[in-house]
Amino acid sequence: MEKTEQNYEDFISTVSHELRTPLTSIRGFSQTMLQSWDKIDDESKKKFLKIIEEQSNRLISLVENMLSVTKLQSAKDNFVYKETNLKPLIEQTISIVKNQYKTHKFELNFNKSVPPIFTDKDKFQQIMTNLIENAAKYSNDNTTVYITVSLTDSAQHVSLKVTDTGVGIDEKDYEKIFTKFSRIDSPLTRKVQGSGLGLYITKNIVEKMNGCISVKSENKTTTFEVLLPIGNVEDYARAKCSQ
Ligand SMILES: Nc1ncnc2c1ncn2[C@@H]1O[C@H](COP(=O)(O)OP(=O)(O)OP(=O)(O)O)[C@@H](O)[C@H]1O
Ligand SMILES: [Mg+2]
Repeated sequence: MEKTEQNYEDFISTVSHELRTPLTSIRGFSQTMLQSWDKIDDESKKKFLKIIEEQSNRLISLVENMLSVTKLQSAKDNFVYKETNLKPLIEQTISIVKNQYKTHKFELNFNKSVPPIFTDKDKFQQIMTNLIENAAKYSNDNTTVYITVSLTDSAQHVSLKVTDTGVGIDEKDYEKIFTKFSRIDSPLTRKVQGSGLGLYITKNIVEKMNGCISVKSENKTTTFEVLLPIGNVEDYARAKCSQ
């Protein structure tokens, strides 16, 4: 079989599996409720409905992520670069994630030297949402997620750092986590939902913007850093991340 064909088959079989799991659980809990409605107490009904809601959300986010992957692979996905003030965008992203992770604290440290940059607003939001969401998702309640925005020494790139003190990532997994459908097994990862596409999409977007992304995790303190050119993408060499 040709390589692209094999990739396609792998993709379809992974996707089918990812779709089947939540669908099976939605069907199972709806059937149980329909067949035994009078026998089930209110508390259990609520629990079953909660599972159905969670699994539907999981399906929606999976479908949205897969759409992003397909769009990124096709030429249709145009980036629209405009001069953009990052601070309000990041603040907005934080408040969206905060709404989902209510007990987490989020601390934004936005260096005043950072000018408006030429970027695609929606894609930039997607990068920040994925990283901030992961930081909250893979750390315990009541911990703090730090977001630091500054200029690099050369003043050609903006550095976006998202730090958490959560489960941490083994150095051997640094590359793996950026590939399609990859998740690192841990008690916490098993508890939280995810398709393993977020970082793959993020890396793809960052590189299309001529930027780079890297990760460093020590003593369970994990920092993802993204470097993006501040000016017209074509005028800048691809950013190099040190790690
Ligand atoms: N901040 C983090 N701390 C620890 N592990 C992380 C962190 N961010 C990502 N990971 C690990 O990398 C894996 C891949 O992350 P990615 O965002 O691609 O997928 P996901 O969060 O599982 O699902 P989704 O597609 O919904 O984003 C995660 O499953 C997790 O194991
Ligand atoms: Mg994620």
